[in-house]
Amino acid sequence: MHLTLRQLKIFARAAHHSSLTRAGEDLHLSQPAVSMQIKQLEEAVGMPLFDRVGKGLRLTEAGRELERYSREITAKVDEIGEVMDEIRGLKRGSLSIAVATTVSQYAIQAVAGFHKRNPGIRVSLDVTNRKSLLSQLDTNAADIVLMGFPPKKRQVVAEPFMDNPLVVIAAPGHRLAKRKAINLAEVAGETFLLREPGSGTRQAIERFLRHKGVALATTLFMSGNEAIKHGVEAGLGLAIVSRHTIALELKAGRLCELPVRGFPLVRQWFIVRPTNKRYSAAARAFSDFILAGEVEF
Ligand code: PGA
Repeated sequence: MHLTLRQLKIFARAAHHSSLTRAGEDLHLSQPAVSMQIKQLEEAVGMPLFDRVGKGLRLTEAGRELERYSREITAKVDEIGEVMDEIRGLKRGSLSIAVATTVSQYAIQAVAGFHKRNPGIRVSLDVTNRKSLLSQLDTNAADIVLMGFPPKKRQVVAEPFMDNPLVVIAAPGHRLAKRKAINLAEVAGETFLLREPGSGTRQAIERFLRHKGVALATTLFMSGNEAIKHGVEAGLGLAIVSRHTIALELKAGRLCELPVRGFPLVRQWFIVRPTNKRYSAAARAFSDFILAGEVEF
């Protein structure tokens, strides 16, 4: 059977996206070029690899088997590159990092500091939600993940590297903004802006309130910290966010922290990596950099 690495790589991307066009975009190839390679691969194995369903693609049984092998083979080929880079030292290589949106400001500082020391390492940083972080750990897509709490049921190594204080924020003109100390029960009567389902911050807040036996009277939902901060600034209500997301707004006087009893609610940030992915020299160097507390933040 004659098949090439290039065909397997293209096939793996097409299977991942269930789309030839998106595979082409990933690999900087035209759709006809992708289509031709898949056709040749189907001829080589003597069976169709995809069922064409409407505009989409679904893997056939042969396709599913080949997809598993393609993933393993392309991962091994990437590994050859990494090992050769390591033999050369940390002068070259690549590092794929995925982080929760809430820790993105820290992560950008970390990448900046790391890049200064290791300018030859190509870093890609994906800022995304918890659900996508979990799937990247499942598929070994990321070398390193920074997240709020490590998944319990997955095979990962997780180490805490920094506190994550959650604080209650308000617009500076809010009637509670000048108070010295506020009880939780009192703020619970206010309107609160909450993050989208799947946000680690939101899960932590809900757990905390359940534990305290307190329910929020009125809640509005907004996805992402930016929307929450703008909403609070606009006077829509209060919110509980990580202090790591509001440095600029506090400095500019656009938001303020309320001294609510029981806050800050201190969580931790974890650096996480899948145990069944090779721990490259670049990933190790980045972890060491984070765990040594050398990031200027
Ligand atoms: P977020 O933060 O999902 O609320 O952005 C990540 C986490 O705290 O786990």
